[in-house]
Amino acid sequence: MGGEELPGVSRTAVWVAGMRAAESERADRLFDDRLAAAFVSAAGGGIVPQTAGPPGTSEFLAVRARFFDDQARAACGAGIRQIVLPAAGLDCRAFRLDWPSGVRLFELDLPEMFAFKEPVLASVEAVARCVRVVVAVDLRGQWAQPLIDAGFDPGAPTAWLAEGLLPYLQRADGERLLATVTELSAPGSRAVFDHLETTAAERPGMRAVSEVVRQVGAQLMPTADSPADWLTGHGWQARLFRLPALAEEYGRSLPADVDLVASNAVVVITADR
Ligand SMILES: C[S@@+](CC[C@H](N)C(=O)[O-])C[C@H]1O[C@@H](n2cnc3c(N)ncnc32)[C@H](O)[C@@H]1O
Repeated sequence: MGGEELPGVSRTAVWVAGMRAAESERADRLFDDRLAAAFVSAAGGGIVPQTAGPPGTSEFLAVRARFFDDQARAACGAGIRQIVLPAAGLDCRAFRLDWPSGVRLFELDLPEMFAFKEPVLASVEAVARCVRVVVAVDLRGQWAQPLIDAGFDPGAPTAWLAEGLLPYLQRADGERLLATVTELSAPGSRAVFDHLETTAAERPGMRAVSEVVRQVGAQLMPTADSPADWLTGHGWQARLFRLPALAEEYGRSLPADVDLVASNAVVVITADR
C-alpha cells in the first residue's frame, strides 16, 4: 500500500514523521528517530505539505515527542510494563527506546495505517526492542475487546501515550475514548495526551496549523475547555504542560514570530490514577 491510499487523518502521521526525520538530522536533536525518513520516502511526494506549518510547529512536534519519550521512560521507571499507544501512526518508540525487559507495547491505529507501516518496517528489517503488538481498530468505535483479545491485561497498570490524537477526534469520540481508557486502567496507570484549548481557535497561529492539516486531508478540533476538569471528572489527577515552557525546559528556543497565545493553548497533559 502506498501513502496515497492512507485516509486523510492518517496522512497527518506522515506529516509528523517528516518533522521527526528532520529533527533526527539535527546536531542538537531531542531524539533520534532513524525510521521516520523511511516512512516519508515510502509515502512518496504529494502527502507531506510544502510547509511544516507556521512558526513554532516543528519545535512543538520535537518537544512533544521528547516529552512523550520521557513519560514512557518515567512510567517504566515506576514499574509499569504495559504501554499502549492509541493512534500510534508511524511512531517508532517500540524500536528506538531502550525498554526494560518485560515491556509489552500495543500500537492502535486504523487498519490502513498498519497496511502502510508494517511493510515499510519489514523492508528495513526493523527489530522491536520490546514485545510489540499491533491492533488495527477505529478508536471511535469499540476497541477495548480487540485490545484485550490481543493480550492486553486490564489488571496491570498501563501507560497510555496518545500523541497527536485528541485534536483529530470529535468531542463525543474523545469523551468515549477517555471513558474506555479509564475502564481499562488498573490503579497505578498513567495517561499522556495532547490537546487544543478552545481559546486558540481564532488565533492566526492556530488557523495556520489548521490550514496545513486541512491540506493533508484532516481537521483539527479543540477537545475540552478545561482538560484538567475533564480528566478529574473521569477520576484522574492531571498535570498540564504548555509548549513554550516545555520548549524552554528542553533548550529548544521558539522562533521570535511564534504566536504565543496559540502556542500556550496547545497543552500536553499527564494524568495518574
Ligand atoms: C498526527 S498523527 C499522530 C501519530 C503518532 N501518534 C505520532 O505522533 O506520530 C494522528 C494519528 O491518529 C490516527 N487516528 C485518527 N483518528 C483515528 C481513529 N478514529 N482511529 C484510529 N486511529 C486514528 C491516524 O491514523 C494517525 O496515525
